[in-house]
Amino acid sequence: MTPHPIEIAVFAGDGIGPEIIREALKVLRLVADRSGISLSLTEGLIGGSAYDACGTPFPDESLNLALQSDAVLLGAVGGPKWEGLDYSVRPERALLGLREKLGLYANLRPVLVFDELADASPLKKDLVQGIDLLILRELTGDIYFGKPRGVTKDESGRRTGVNTMIYTEDEIRRIAVRAFELARGRRKKLLSVDKANVLETTELWRQVVTETGRGYSDVALSHMYVDNCAMQLVRNPSQFDVIVTANLFGDILSDEAAMLTGSIGMLPSASLGDGKALYEPIHGSAPDIAGQNIANPLATILSAAMMLRYSLNRPEEAALIEQSVKNVLRDGWRTPDIAAAGDRKASTEQMGDAVIRKLSSLLREPA
Ligand code: IPM
Ligand code: MG
Repeated sequence: MTPHPIEIAVFAGDGIGPEIIREALKVLRLVADRSGISLSLTEGLIGGSAYDACGTPFPDESLNLALQSDAVLLGAVGGPKWEGLDYSVRPERALLGLREKLGLYANLRPVLVFDELADASPLKKDLVQGIDLLILRELTGDIYFGKPRGVTKDESGRRTGVNTMIYTEDEIRRIAVRAFELARGRRKKLLSVDKANVLETTELWRQVVTETGRGYSDVALSHMYVDNCAMQLVRNPSQFDVIVTANLFGDILSDEAAMLTGSIGMLPSASLGDGKALYEPIHGSAPDIAGQNIANPLATILSAAMMLRYSLNRPEEAALIEQSVKNVLRDGWRTPDIAAAGDRKASTEQMGDAVIRKLSSLLREPA
């Protein structure tokens, strides 16, 4: 009996998006073939390329495709070409719309320093070696979505800009529950990051996280202000296990934490809701290197691994992809973002092919 295929919506997006997605799809197809997973991959338009084709960065067909799928794989959106557009049709709006419409409130951003890349970090090797932390970023609330928002003009023509940082206790509780659950499956240490000394919204955040923690006495909960956390991430990153924080703080801290790994081109992410899920690298569309076949596809390949783990219930195959990435790095393959003098320079495609070769030898041949 042929099992019902798993429907994956694929949005390559803009800039380097198509190049990195191509490599991740090779990896997914290989896993599907070898492991007897029936995958149906359907590509859709999103971001600036969607705007160019249909006048909107987030066409209804793309929303419907995402809604009908079991999971979404996304490259990146945005670029200078679309920066002058009205805010409502900027490529980034599509990404925010997708997160909102699919209810993807929990954004997992694992920060794992591969031993092979400990030298690639701008931080000292002994500081970053062995780092394995997880940033859990709330993704559908906060100042990203809060109202009122916008720029208004008074009678004299003077402009005022406003955005609203807002959280209901339910929104805080559901991300806190996820955070405690994730910490339970790891080293049982949870840090909640806020700015409770200044912002009432985040004072509520701290209270609700603390209340939620009463049901998780096996997890050690602590709190830190976001400014201190930004400092501690470069001073002593090995103190962290799971970090849970609000949308805006999580956006900023995860870019900072990415540099522990040597390159933002290494960080995958999963955005989960109650059912739907989106997988994407945390980096942007890198228009400056687009079309040159030099972008690092590993963050997207590792995002595909997260898809296998969280949406397809295939943790073993996910681990084999991660192992293949490690093996490729051990062999010395490096895209320019992680290369040092003397390294074997790989193009985007060569990096993808190197992962495929390793993975192919790790996956069993089909019976
Ligand atoms: C990210 C990105 C997005 C965000 C942008 C592209 C809208 O920076 O996923 O971290 O701010 O969430
Ligand atoms: Mg960001």
